[in-house]
Amino acid sequence: MTDRYAVIGNPIAHTKSPLIHGLFAKTARQDMVYTAIEGPVESEHGFEDMVLGFRDGGGRGMNVTAPFKLRAFRMADACSERAAMAGAANALRFGPDRIEAENFDGIGLLRDIEVNLGLLLVGKRVLLLGAGGAARGALLPFLAAGPSLLVVVNRDVKKAAALVSQAGAKGALEARGYGDLEHMGRFDLVVNATSASLTGDLPPVPPSVFASDGTAYELTYGKGLTPFLRLARNAGVRGLADGVGMLVEQAAEAFAWWRGVRPQTAMVIDGLTIPLT
Ligand code: ATR
Repeated sequence: MTDRYAVIGNPIAHTKSPLIHGLFAKTARQDMVYTAIEGPVESEHGFEDMVLGFRDGGGRGMNVTAPFKLRAFRMADACSERAAMAGAANALRFGPDRIEAENFDGIGLLRDIEVNLGLLLVGKRVLLLGAGGAARGALLPFLAAGPSLLVVVNRDVKKAAALVSQAGAKGALEARGYGDLEHMGRFDLVVNATSASLTGDLPPVPPSVFASDGTAYELTYGKGLTPFLRLARNAGVRGLADGVGMLVEQAAEAFAWWRGVRPQTAMVIDGLTIPLT
């Protein structure tokens, strides 16, 4: 029987995951199907029931997207350290007697930055905007890459501080408010992990954080030049990126976890990239 996988979220109509995994399966010669499922948001156990139903119907694994990442994490029997740190799962694997949770968002982001964009974070100054789910996922992979300084900034500074203390003494890590950034100099990499771009908003980041030879990375994708990327470009930043590479790289990590084969990502990223103009 062909192995079954799916992405579950709500809304789900615009997901690119079936396309990406379909291309991976073809090039890696894997006998599998990957579909999209709209999860129920109204009922109390509807999401969990749907996941278990998919598994019981022969499903081998799932990707999980908004708004279900926390619930997916909670219903799993085992999880990785990065999923625990994020408190959220974006991938599930169904074993014979247990559900495992993973979170590949952060490692996908790191791979896109280091492998695809060629920016090694070791010894670099990195600024992470936001302290929600997206930022939580990025924290451990970023720290493991050995930056000289990693600053997490959030409007609600308490959330940034909680995240930093949860990460423990794992490197040069600081929690700050946006008001502190004026005096903190330039950063080699500024990542917008806030949800501001979803509503066309701009996090209150001063242009002084950007270095012209640095990189500005927007986690959302397919929205062209967001207010954040526009601010960075106007500040003279030459390296601008959106999250399409991260999307494909996290998918590749999940694919490798499920199938034991790491698929090629470059052509898939090229095919999905919309120029940032
Ligand atoms: P996600 O899972 O996408 O990270 P989330 O957990 O709801 O979503 O977190 C949203 C993040 O975006 C938070 O860090 C939020 O900042 P606050 O905690 O201070 O609210 C941040 N955010 C949302 N809109 C923003 C804006 N206009 N400017 C700056 N930060 C914003």
